[in-house]
Amino acid sequence: MNKPSSGETPELDYAPKLPENKDMGIAVVGAGEIVTSCHLPAYRMAGFRVVGICDIDPVKAEAAAQAHKLPRVYRSLDDLLADPDVQIVDIAVPARHQPGIVRECAAAGKHLLCQKPLAETFREAKEIADMCASAGIRAASNQQMRWAPGIAASRSIVRRGWIGRPVQGTVQVNVRTEWENWEWLTKIGTLEVMYHSIHYLDAIRYVMGMDPEYVYADGARWPGQPYKGETRTLIHLKFPGEARGLVHDSHNNRQPQDDWYATFRFEGTEGAVGGTNGALYNYPEGREDTLRFYSRKLVPDRPYEPALEGRWFPHAFMGPMGELMLAVQEDREPENSVRDNLVTMRTVFAAYRSMAENRPVDLHEIE
Ligand SMILES: NC(=O)c1ccc[n+]([C@@H]2O[C@H](COP(=O)([O-])OP(=O)(O)OC[C@H]3O[C@@H](n4cnc5c(N)ncnc54)[C@H](O)[C@@H]3O)[C@@H](O)[C@H]2O)c1
Repeated sequence: MNKPSSGETPELDYAPKLPENKDMGIAVVGAGEIVTSCHLPAYRMAGFRVVGICDIDPVKAEAAAQAHKLPRVYRSLDDLLADPDVQIVDIAVPARHQPGIVRECAAAGKHLLCQKPLAETFREAKEIADMCASAGIRAASNQQMRWAPGIAASRSIVRRGWIGRPVQGTVQVNVRTEWENWEWLTKIGTLEVMYHSIHYLDAIRYVMGMDPEYVYADGARWPGQPYKGETRTLIHLKFPGEARGLVHDSHNNRQPQDDWYATFRFEGTEGAVGGTNGALYNYPEGREDTLRFYSRKLVPDRPYEPALEGRWFPHAFMGPMGELMLAVQEDREPENSVRDNLVTMRTVFAAYRSMAENRPVDLHEIE
């Protein structure tokens, strides 16, 4: 354990790890909101080499290429896959289109970064993992909250043993989200968990370093909401032994932004770490994450409050791509592999089954 002396604030290891060799050519499929506001700005910060983009709407692909100075606009996915300069395909389209795109990319032998959720059914998510494995490519999921500064720092604190054995992981969010910014999401029956809390479920298992066994969830709408799916959820996770997780999330806060909150907290046998997820404050600008932790392994009862740099959006997007590149270069599975992501997907589908059947669901039921 690397233990600071009593006076100093410990150095935390939370910045995304980037490969020294950044020559790999990346091509992007989808030129929508998340690509233009996060993927491409983050890749520029990281110094990654994006060689081109395509979209079924060529006007959007052209606009993104111009705004971000990308060398090529591909006419089609086939055109993109035929480019030998492309080693990694970065997919960012609505989930229902992802399995078909993965099939073609895997057949072409390109490494893949898939957006979350992997697919809208567990069967298709599993097919994605199987197709990538049999094609012998490296495939990762873009659950970039793992690299949000507060979550990455919490993971580093837990892994150093500073809070002892993790016993509770909690994310609580109460903000206002205008889902009409993503027109296709307003019509989707599985909204909040599948498209938002999926990040919290993935982040909790990442920081706790273990997978849930049971999920007990409830989801509800807000009176008069114009969206089809649930917009407030309560998800209880039962991990092995005494460890538990909780996600309590609502996107219906009608009060001024002063009233919004987005917090995380991990408690262990030797201390606790918690903070705020700055991306959801001061919307749309956001602010830096905050972090405070206590550790009886360091100085008991002393609060440590290290300042963190970067945000969940866009900075954390350097992380999943950086980890995929490192995995390719080191010939190993990425820690955000699509195979690993099947556990997060199982948790999501278990949450929906729990809501529908009003009972705790064993993760093994999701196959
Ligand atoms: N990781 C995150 O935090 C995060 C955040 C937002 C969105 N997302 C995910 O990213 C994906 C895209 O979201 P968005 O907000 O950019 O949506 P968007 O609607 O703004 O953009 C989607 C784009 O995909 C294009 N498209 C659709 N089908 C296509 C196909 N078959 N081939 C090529 N292009 C196609 C559309 O024309 C559109 O330009 C979704 O899966 C969403 O869940 C992830």
